[in-house]
Parts: sequence; structure tokens; C-alpha cells
Amino acid sequence: MTAPKKLFIKTYGCQMNVYDSERMAEALGPSGYTEVSSPEEADMILLNTCHIREKAAEKVYSELGRLKGLKAAKPDLKIGVAGCVAQAEGEEIMTRQPLVDLVVGPQSYHRLPAMEARARSGEKVLDTDFPEEDKFEALKSRPKARRGPTAFLTVQEGCDKFCAFCVVPYTRGAEVSRPVDRIRAEARDLVERGVREITLLGQNVNAYHGEGPDGRDWTLARLIRELAEIDGLARLRFTTSHPNDMDDDLIAAHGDCAKLMPYLHLPVQSGSDRILKRMNRSHDRDSYLRLIDRIRTARPDILMSGDFIVGFPEETDQDFRDTMRLIEEVQYGQAFSFKYSTRPGTPAAERPQVAEDVKTARLAELQGLITTQQRALQDAMVGQTVGVLFEKPGRQPGQMVGKSDHLHAVHVEATDIAPGDLRQVRIIASGSNSLSGTLI
Ligand code: SAH
Ligand code: SF4
Ligand code: F3S
Repeated sequence: MTAPKKLFIKTYGCQMNVYDSERMAEALGPSGYTEVSSPEEADMILLNTCHIREKAAEKVYSELGRLKGLKAAKPDLKIGVAGCVAQAEGEEIMTRQPLVDLVVGPQSYHRLPAMEARARSGEKVLDTDFPEEDKFEALKSRPKARRGPTAFLTVQEGCDKFCAFCVVPYTRGAEVSRPVDRIRAEARDLVERGVREITLLGQNVNAYHGEGPDGRDWTLARLIRELAEIDGLARLRFTTSHPNDMDDDLIAAHGDCAKLMPYLHLPVQSGSDRILKRMNRSHDRDSYLRLIDRIRTARPDILMSGDFIVGFPEETDQDFRDTMRLIEEVQYGQAFSFKYSTRPGTPAAERPQVAEDVKTARLAELQGLITTQQRALQDAMVGQTVGVLFEKPGRQPGQMVGKSDHLHAVHVEATDIAPGDLRQVRIIASGSNSLSGTLI
């Protein structure tokens, strides 16, 4: 038996990192680790990092700086860096910050227990390989603990699209899809442990083409229809999609699969054809707008979400106006927007850059428009009846909070609701970030 030890994981970046952090905690269970919620208690600290923008990547170094005191007070404390910065910067992390004992890239998490043992014995260990073996297969030994009502499940990882601004194809590697059987087994296991809503994850989730039980490649739509058969599973979502991989069956599933929720995150990045071409996005403005029309024909009340980059190299004022016009046409219920950040090793990093103050002004204007749309679509829910999956008590006594089918946060005053209950709610008011309603 291994001595009991405490693990603290801090997660940055996207939902896939949240999923990966859960898997890393489980992988280290047999080594004696249980998770704790403060770094001060920990025998090992793992930073699960994000490399998508410069600010995100730099956070890890300031966090490591803050951990210096802890390490000095507790020399046995092991510090590890995982995730996309680990993959991208590898050895450089250990050079820049000698207190780091362990660096592990996203494709090597199944090797973490062996790496931890070596770090315990005083070695510095680094693994940023893209190994042949299936990391998920080795990570599946999960404890049977109860879980909250919602969970992420990675079905696809990596990206072959190589958008000119993006590090993901380098940090996560080539597109890989997990086989249907394993996903189904994991989904069933989650449901047995109390999960009622699963969000299928992938950097390009709708490019999913995992092996089905019949030996053929299955599409994401087929996988969703299969998972929808699981008793006790009430809701399915998926993220993130690329416009070019929205096939007819997936669009149809939004209309005819009752468990697939009416919310779709479909990043477009820009509304200017000139910029989309330079971004290597391989779709244009018009094809994106037509795609959204088809999706809304299948599911008229679907809430659209997107990602936008402002100030991509050579973006002119006219290009930015085209993006604003696209947003006005689509009407987003949610959107994430960023100033372009130069990423070393990506093609766009070498091109003429837009001035920082121009980026700042464009971002503020774009976010103003998005906020207005978001608010209008949220306000429009007042008077409607929606499904709400309750997750936890709200801030006020007697209040419960959950998410609507359209992913709005909803508060309800009621004493007879438990986390995991899915109830019909009539929306009565719209606040700044959430809705409130009454049970039907
Ligand atoms: N796989 C997803 C998400 C990738 S990262 C997709 O293809 O949509 C999430 C978002 O970060 C992207 O959609 C993009 O809007 C933003 N992003 C990626 N690289 C960036 C960069 N270099 N600068 C600013 N934003 C970036
Ligand atoms: Fe990055 Fe583009 Fe791949 Fe998305 S599709 S992960 S933005 S390269
Ligand atoms: Fe960041 Fe890696 Fe996710 S770069 S957004 S943590 S895939």
C-alpha cells in the first residue's frame, strides 16, 4: 500500500482541461492521492495549463512564482505542469522555473503514476510524447463515487485544421476519435453515478469519426443517437464544432433527438471573407450564414454561440465592420471574443500586426453588441416554459439554481427540488446574468 498523499490541481483553459484534470486525479488515486481544495495542504500540486493566448500561457509562470514560498516551507512538495503549456514549452519550463519537478503533456497522462514515483525519488521528469498507446484506455479505472448532475466526456481530441492563429494542432496533436463502445461505457458509468447531462467534448467534436461496434466509422450524430438511448440520461450537448463539419445528420439530430439540447457553439472567428481566407478557416461568411439558416430550420429555437477574434493581422476597419454585420445577422445568445494574440510557431505570427489600441477599441465595440444581443435573447425567455436541470442551492435561502435547455442559469424558489431534478419552469424575470422562474 502507498502512503496517503494529497493532490491539488489548478485548471486553466478549456473544458477539455477540466475533464483531463478529473482523469489525472483518478489516475493518481492508486498512488495514494486524494484531491484537496487548497495548495497549502498538498503533497503534490499540478497546474493544468492553457497555451491559447499569451496571457493564458504567462499565468503559469506567475503561479509558479507564487508557489516558491510553499516549496521552501515543504521541500517534499512536488510541483508538476500539465496541459498545453507543458506540451508547447516542455523543458523550457524547468529551466525558467527550477522548482518544477514534473512536466507532462496532454497525451501522456496515463504515464503520470510512473512519473510521480520518479519525481518522489528526486528525479526531474518530463514527458511530452505523442505515444502510440491509447491514453484513455489506461485512464479508465475510475472510483465509483457519486457525481453531480452534469459531466464532460471527451470523445475526440486534437485538430487537423491548422487555423493560422491557433496552437491547438501543435499542443493536442492530430485528430483522434475514441471508439463508440468505450464512450458508451463511460457514459453509462457516469449515469449510474448520478449524472443526467453529458457534454461531449472535442477540439473538433463534430469531426468525430470513432469506430462503431459494427467496425465502421460512426459520425457524431450517430454517436449522439446511440447515447440518447441510455435510460436516466436526460440531456446531451457537444462542443466545440467547426462549421465545415456540420453534416446533414447532425443538423437533423437537432430537430429530432429530444435529448440533444437547443444550444450550439459554432465559432466563426470573423465575418470578413478576406480575413477568413488568411485565417485558413476554409469556410466563408456566406456558407456560415447559410449553415445557420439550415440549423434554425431544423430547430427554430436553437441558441447560437460563437467565438470571435479581433485584430487578426491585416484586419482593416472594413473587415471589422463585416464581422459586426455578421453578428447582427446571426443574433447570438452567447459569444466569446478575444484580441488576436501572437502565438510563436503559428503562421500568422509572422504577418503585419494590428496596433494594440485598435484591437482594444474593436473588442469593446464587438462585446457591446454581443452583450445587447445576449441580453435581448435572455429577456425573450420571460413568459416561456423551459426545462431546467437543477444543480445546487442558490445564494438566497430556499433557492435552487440550474441550467435551462438553452443553457441560461435559472433561479427558482422552492423547497422540494434536489440537485439532479429536471423540472419544467415558467420564466418570470430576466436579471443581468440569469433568469428566475416558478415550477410548473
Ligand atoms: N477548437 C475550437 C476552439 C479553439 S480555442 C474551435 O476550433 O473553435 C478557442 C477560441 O480561442 C477560438 O475559437 C478562438 O476564437 C480563440 N483563439 C485561438 N487562438 C487565438 C489567438 N492566437 N488569439 C486570440 N484568440 C485565439
Ligand atoms: Fe484551433 Fe482552428 Fe483547430 Fe479550432 S479548428 S482548434 S481554432 S486550429
Ligand atoms: Fe487552452 Fe489547450 Fe484548451 S491551449 S483552450 S487548454 S486545448
